[in-house]
Amino acid sequence: MTDSPDFRRYLVDIDSVSTHQVSTDYLVLGAGIAGLRAAIEAAQNAMVCVVTKGAVEDSNTWNAQGGIASVLDKGDSFESHIADTLRTGCGLCDDKVVDLVVRQGPQLIRQLIDWGCAFDLTDGLIATTLEGGHSHPRIAHAHGDETGKIIAQTLIAKAREQRKVKIIENFFTIDLLTENNKCLGVIGWHREKGLRIIWASNVILATGGAGQLYRETTNPSCATADGLAIAYRAGAVLQDLEFVQFHPTTLYIAGASRALITETLRGEGAVLRDIKGRAFMKDYNPAAELAPRDIVSRAILQQMLKTKSTHVYLDIRHFDKQHFAKRFPVINELCESFDIDVSKDLIPVRPSAHYMVGGVKTDGLAKTGLENLYAAGEVSSTGLHGANRLGSNSLLEGLVFGKIAGHAEVRPKNLARQPVIKYEIPHSHRSPLDISDVRNSLRAVMWRNVGINRKAADLRQAIDQVRFWQRYVMDKQFDNPQGWELQNMLTVCLLIARSALSRKESRGVHFRSDHPDTDDVHFKKHTEIKRED
Ligand code: SIN
Repeated sequence: MTDSPDFRRYLVDIDSVSTHQVSTDYLVLGAGIAGLRAAIEAAQNAMVCVVTKGAVEDSNTWNAQGGIASVLDKGDSFESHIADTLRTGCGLCDDKVVDLVVRQGPQLIRQLIDWGCAFDLTDGLIATTLEGGHSHPRIAHAHGDETGKIIAQTLIAKAREQRKVKIIENFFTIDLLTENNKCLGVIGWHREKGLRIIWASNVILATGGAGQLYRETTNPSCATADGLAIAYRAGAVLQDLEFVQFHPTTLYIAGASRALITETLRGEGAVLRDIKGRAFMKDYNPAAELAPRDIVSRAILQQMLKTKSTHVYLDIRHFDKQHFAKRFPVINELCESFDIDVSKDLIPVRPSAHYMVGGVKTDGLAKTGLENLYAAGEVSSTGLHGANRLGSNSLLEGLVFGKIAGHAEVRPKNLARQPVIKYEIPHSHRSPLDISDVRNSLRAVMWRNVGINRKAADLRQAIDQVRFWQRYVMDKQFDNPQGWELQNMLTVCLLIARSALSRKESRGVHFRSDHPDTDDVHFKKHTEIKRED
């Protein structure tokens, strides 16, 4: 699929920043598990600069609860983890990548432990639990449901120990700078210092996810799909953007912001009940609460429709209260903050956007189609997940591909230079924008029309609406992250809706009510989108 752009190449005037430039060997965009692991690897023989748009703690990694999947238990096997990943990916996984990631897991997790990451233990061995789609308990967790935070803290500390790593917070990457299909660095904006150019021999895109494109999401506010948008504008291939994974259980309290309720709760016995109190999952799948999460999300949605309600409940009243508080401290605190006594009350939940399965297309060496540009973590599409991601495989993928990306060969520095192409930036004559109004409306349209259940008419309506907003947002020259974020969100929302419209079948996380069957004859293939100049 190609696109005819209706927006300019760079979002700011490059000429205005020619005096503020630095250069580095590696520039890592993002400080989640993939970015930090890449930085630590690269620092073994090169200078590394990590930039992150907020604080170093603002990442999807930091918020991950369930854990990291790997073969850590004697009774488990690589073959079993590989088979579960392939089955969940519904025919679109890359076998070689699955093999690579699964087999690298245990040693990279042990390395994390050597660096100080305290995974929870049972009888001196790493404790493992279950999530949907896994045929063996293989989810390692740390400090109960604070797994992501503990891993991130370990990696942040390790990266800070490296003499050759510099971490810059509050740096918003506006665009990748390119010349002849080669990435040369980035133009960005620092909260105190303003516009800057950073030239780099290698750029590693590890900007994370896109959950904020949807009104309902488990993701933090930083997950606005910036990496996908900048890669697209630079000419990289984006793959499988229709595959957006929805998490079945997000705390649903009207007016409160959504919060993830980890799937490992269901792995450890939590039951889904509708508003009448009925456990309904067996009606939809024999694996009940432990079916893959796309099945559980759709079942919840259907049950909400049947019972005319806005949510269902998660029942953990049978859990030992003290054990629960220790095993799931984040959820325990969250419930307490809303006066939910989990030993007596049911927890109101509903599905929400959780993980971008598609992303910037990479090969087994984390290379994108642009020279010197690598991608790792949620922003990438490596072939591990196929059409659906097996729970807790993403932290593992970030670890493995972060390390791989950090291994790239360092070529002579692209010392400060001007991009050869000049861009005319038309000045908008339209009226001032209410950025948050457009942003909220966009997220609502994505949730309604490009959500868990899709059909052609809804997708077309979303495309028309996004194009309408694009006409008066994309021609503006902003000078703040809110504006650039909105431009990125509009760009990626359009690409998701178009990808979803083009896949006229149902597969993995992509469900089309007007094409409910899987069509291997026409669609057992990836959807690719590239900007057409
Ligand atoms: C969860 O804890 O339920 C989320 C884990 C994941 O998305 O991999």
